[in-house]
Amino acid sequence: MATTLIYGGTVVSAIGRREADVLIDGESIAAILAPGHAAAYGITPDVAIDATGKYVVPGGVDAHVHMSLPFGGTVSADDFDTGSRAAAWGGVTTIIDFASQTVGLDVREALAERHVEAAGECHVDYAFHQIIGDVNEESLEAMTYLVENEGITSFKMFMAYPGVFYSDDGKILRAMQNASESGALMMMHAENGIAIDVLVAQSLARGDSDPKYHSYTRPEELESEATHRAIKLARVAGNVPLYIVHMSASEALEEVSRAQHMGLNVFAETCPQYLYLSIEDHLAQPGFEGAKWVCSTPLRSKHEHHQKDLWKGLRMNELAVVSTDHCPFCMKDQKELGLGDFSKIPNGMGGVEHRMEMIYQGVVMGEMTLERWVETCCTTPARMFGLEKKGVLEPGADADVLVWDPNTKTKIGVNNKHHMAMDHSSFEGFEVDGKVDTVISRGRVVVANDTYLGVKGHGRFVKRSLNQYIH
Ligand code: URP
Ligand code: ZN
Ligand code: ZN
Repeated sequence: MATTLIYGGTVVSAIGRREADVLIDGESIAAILAPGHAAAYGITPDVAIDATGKYVVPGGVDAHVHMSLPFGGTVSADDFDTGSRAAAWGGVTTIIDFASQTVGLDVREALAERHVEAAGECHVDYAFHQIIGDVNEESLEAMTYLVENEGITSFKMFMAYPGVFYSDDGKILRAMQNASESGALMMMHAENGIAIDVLVAQSLARGDSDPKYHSYTRPEELESEATHRAIKLARVAGNVPLYIVHMSASEALEEVSRAQHMGLNVFAETCPQYLYLSIEDHLAQPGFEGAKWVCSTPLRSKHEHHQKDLWKGLRMNELAVVSTDHCPFCMKDQKELGLGDFSKIPNGMGGVEHRMEMIYQGVVMGEMTLERWVETCCTTPARMFGLEKKGVLEPGADADVLVWDPNTKTKIGVNNKHHMAMDHSSFEGFEVDGKVDTVISRGRVVVANDTYLGVKGHGRFVKRSLNQYIH
């Protein structure tokens, strides 16, 4: 087994930082050593990586991505090959995607098909959540089976997208009751999809069909109402752990904060797009340009202090995780499906490559500490979703490492750093401090010196245990 020593750097964890060297043996972290002690112990590594002046942090864990997701009459542009490679370029060494059961489908078959799609394709390790879109006796039974046998310990449901993924409150409650018994975590897309559809029809009838109306027909009240309802249903279901995905708005965050103060097992994530992008600067761009930023939950107005509140939520742990909801669609042939009718624009944007960069910029801006960057992007997503060997640099953990160079900058844009299968960049024009320097996935260097060294098929499926905050 090859040994690697990352020396001279500052090792940063969720709870602190220190000058230390990281010794890797094969696929695992063997030791965190005081600087220079490897030589004193007579260790001569096969590979030595100089991290002087750099931060050495756990590889990123992106807990919410959609590769090859059939949605809105098309399929998200990154597949497991291109998407997991882009993840590696962005310092992300584990992704969690979704297997999807919709009405009439069998949960286990849906999962088996997703395994086939991903097997042998991934560049970094991966896991799955299971989407439950049809609650019945078989699917409830399958949920328990997946927890006990398949390493699938989280289930996503939708209060949005009627006719596609939507479940009504009764179905949600039944699934939550099941999760409460098995110990699983429930993830919720919290938007009132029935009310949204009314607003969408009214908007189109008025002739308001530009991309920006995507956000105006999904007001924050309908995100906070659904968040509130999901929290109440989770409480009725026995305080089942509930994780609200892609939170975009202040009022919804208040619901989460209130629930947490009541002692409920409620968690939430946000995504870089909600921290940096807005209706005014992006979604409302002239013509059809704004289609690039159509996603749900939608971008919000920059004049309504959502971004300020979301950063505060990240600092205060009201928001525990930053994920990307990476779901890229090209403008050509994909977003274009909604020309003249915003409701037909496939929902989603890409960002798996840029989360570590965009959130590190939050450290530079003083919105969070370096340790909190590691916590929200690496350690907590691993603990939240039961990835026992991920998200930390400690002996026995998987050797997933990101060496981060704080002394240089990263220019983001289709003609700059861009490895996702998209014909545009959601973060076009952003120039941020810091740079992905070296990325190691289970002991293998996959990115170094701006060169890709990884291979398709290196990434393995990871079975997950239960949420480590509750169990
Ligand atoms: O717009 C989004 N978020 N697309 C992906 C599907 C989802 O709702 O997460
Ligand atoms: Zn969603
Ligand atoms: Zn999503």
